[in-house]
Amino acid sequence: MKASDKIDDAAGRLLAWYDGHARTLPWRVPPGSGQAPDPYRVWLSEVMLQQTTVAAVKSYFEKFTQSWPTVEDLASADDADVLSAWAGLGYYARARNLIASAREVAARGGIFPDTEEGLRELPGIGAYTSAAIAAIAFGRRAVVVDANVERVIARLFSITEPLPGSKDAIRAAADTITPDERAGDFAQAMMDLGATICTSRDPRCLLCPLSDMCTARQTGIAADLPRKTPKKARPVRSGTAFWIENDGHVLLVKREGKGMLAGMRALPDDGWSARASGNGEPPLAAEWSRVDGVVGHGFTHFLLELSVHRCEVSDRVAEGEWWPVDRIEEAGLPTLFAKAAKLVLAT
Ligand code: ADE
Repeated sequence: MKASDKIDDAAGRLLAWYDGHARTLPWRVPPGSGQAPDPYRVWLSEVMLQQTTVAAVKSYFEKFTQSWPTVEDLASADDADVLSAWAGLGYYARARNLIASAREVAARGGIFPDTEEGLRELPGIGAYTSAAIAAIAFGRRAVVVDANVERVIARLFSITEPLPGSKDAIRAAADTITPDERAGDFAQAMMDLGATICTSRDPRCLLCPLSDMCTARQTGIAADLPRKTPKKARPVRSGTAFWIENDGHVLLVKREGKGMLAGMRALPDDGWSARASGNGEPPLAAEWSRVDGVVGHGFTHFLLELSVHRCEVSDRVAEGEWWPVDRIEEAGLPTLFAKAAKLVLAT
C-alpha cells in the first residue's frame, strides 16, 4: 500500500485513537457520550486557549464558568470583575473582546452564530477560533489548525518549508484529511495527538496511530519539523513602577485608554510603552528608594525591564484605590504588576 492510500484513512485512525485516548478537559464532551457541547463553554475555552496552554487555562475556565455559568451572566457582569478574573492569563485585549462578544451574543437571545463566517463577526474571533468553535460546538466541517496541528501536519506530509511561510501549505494539507463527520472530535484529536504524542521534542512515534503514514518519520526528520524562520529580536524598553504605601495600603490605579493593559488595575508608572521607555519620573514628590532587582516581562512586540521604586506617604494624597498590601493577590493585577508587587514584598 502506498503512503497516499494510507493517508486516506488518517481521519478514521485518528478518531479511533481519540475514542480511547481523549484528554478529559473541563470544556469538553467525551467522545461517544452523546452529549451536545455547550457553545458558550466551547467559545470561552477557545478564546482562553489562544496563545496559552491547556494547563494555564483550566483553573481560569473553572473560575469563569462558576462565576458566569451562561453567556447572559457574563454579558451582564461588570467589566472590572471580568478583567480581574482574567488577570494572569495575559493578552488583555482578549478579555475586552470576550466581554464585547458576550454582550453581542446576549443581545441575540444568547444564541451563538453556528458557522465560521458568522462566528468571525464576533469581536476578537479570527480564522482559528471560528473554525474551532464551528467544528467543536456545531459539528461543522472546518479546517482547524493551531500550533499542535501545524506540527502534526508538517510531519505527516514532510512540509519542510519553514513557518510562518508554510502556513498555507499546512492548511491545504490538513484540509485533505479533514472528515465531513465528527469534525469537532477530529479537530480535538489532532490537538491531543500534538500535545501528547507528536510533541516538539522527542515525539513518541511508537505510540502514534499515524506513524506508518508519517513521511517525516520514514525519512528520520520528524523531530526537526516544523522548521521555523527565526524571529526578529524584540526591542527592550525600560520603565519604572511606583509602590506608594500608606498604613499597610498600596496605591493602585486603573490604566486608561485602549493601549497596553487598558482597563486593568496597576501600579502607577512612568509611561513606558511598546514604542518608548518610560521617563523615570515619579507621580509625586516623596522619599523614594529603588527596590533591588528588576522585573523582566515579555510582551508580543517588546521586552520590558521594569524597575520598582517605593515610598511611604503620610496622607492618601494621590487618586486611586488604596489596596490592603496583605491582600494584594486579590487585586487582579496583570502578571507584570503582580511580579513587581512580589519583588517589593520579597525585600
Ligand atoms: N487547544 C485549543 N483548543 C483546544 C481544545 N478544544 N482541546 C485541546 N486543546 C486545545
